[in-house]
Amino acid sequence: MYFKTNILLHFRQLWAVKNFWMRKKVDYGKFNIVEPGSVSPQKQVPDYIPKPSYYVTGEPSEVMEAPEIKNHRQILGMRESCKLAANILKRVGNYVKVGLTTDDLDIFTHDLIINSGAYPSPLNYKNFPKSICTSVNNVACHGIPDDRALQDGDIINIDITVFYNGYHGDCSKTFLIGNVDDFGRNLVSTTEICLNEAISICKPGRKFCDIGNLIEKTAANLGFTVVPAFIGHGIGHYFHGPPDIFHIYNNYPGEMRSGMTFTIEPALSYGGKEIVILEDGWTAVTLDFARTAQFEHTVLITDTGVDVLTIPSD
Ligand code: MF3
Ligand code: CO
Ligand code: CO
Repeated sequence: MYFKTNILLHFRQLWAVKNFWMRKKVDYGKFNIVEPGSVSPQKQVPDYIPKPSYYVTGEPSEVMEAPEIKNHRQILGMRESCKLAANILKRVGNYVKVGLTTDDLDIFTHDLIINSGAYPSPLNYKNFPKSICTSVNNVACHGIPDDRALQDGDIINIDITVFYNGYHGDCSKTFLIGNVDDFGRNLVSTTEICLNEAISICKPGRKFCDIGNLIEKTAANLGFTVVPAFIGHGIGHYFHGPPDIFHIYNNYPGEMRSGMTFTIEPALSYGGKEIVILEDGWTAVTLDFARTAQFEHTVLITDTGVDVLTIPSD
């Protein structure tokens, strides 16, 4: 998730600043800048699928004041929803290829989720219009599936969240489409390294802020910036709740405890870390058109360390 800004821009307004970056002659690699396309009508969810609180109004009703310590039953529920999210992400990852539109990916995933008896969490969450987020190249996060076909050399983050048996499970990966240039490959692999390093230090007693401190240091050592606006979050019967997990240097209070579940979802940029939200209220693009990559897992703090819950089982 991310902190919302009030600046909503039409994408064309961004081109006005493009010359500025061109003059700086920074080489961000070889790729096509993505401009949002047209979005198809919203899908329906059958009556028999249990729905989250925001299904009708768009507003989640859960109020969480502190990080939740989950009991055995809640942990089992999280394990199931997270496994389903990971299995679906894996299947979409095998399906994605040049020529498919991001709307094709949304249709494919929506149907897989419904056929599993789950609800696609993004759908109507704070009025998000689709079932998954698809963020290509300079779209940093929360891209809305549309009629743009994937092109050779694109990188695409696919973010899947399912609401299953009363619990949300949330994960994402960035996929390479065809022949991605070295800059792009390096960006994607470094982002995954940052996520895995952060996971490896999680355990009871560890400070939440250690995650961001490690990720920003690792990214900087490898030559990348971390986009500050995107933060991980507690998750459970609610989609987003405490704690906030910053991916940059921070001093957010609090420590991990056994029974907590939260996401870690760093987004790294090849260029600047500033993002702009487009007038659809969701699409986050980089101000300098640089590519970003993002990876996300939902984790459980155990008595002795950490379990990654969003690992596929099939
Ligand atoms: N899955 C995203 C996250 O990692 C949230 C998407 S919110 C949506 O937190 F409304 F855009 F779907
Ligand atoms: Co998330
Ligand atoms: Co997500």
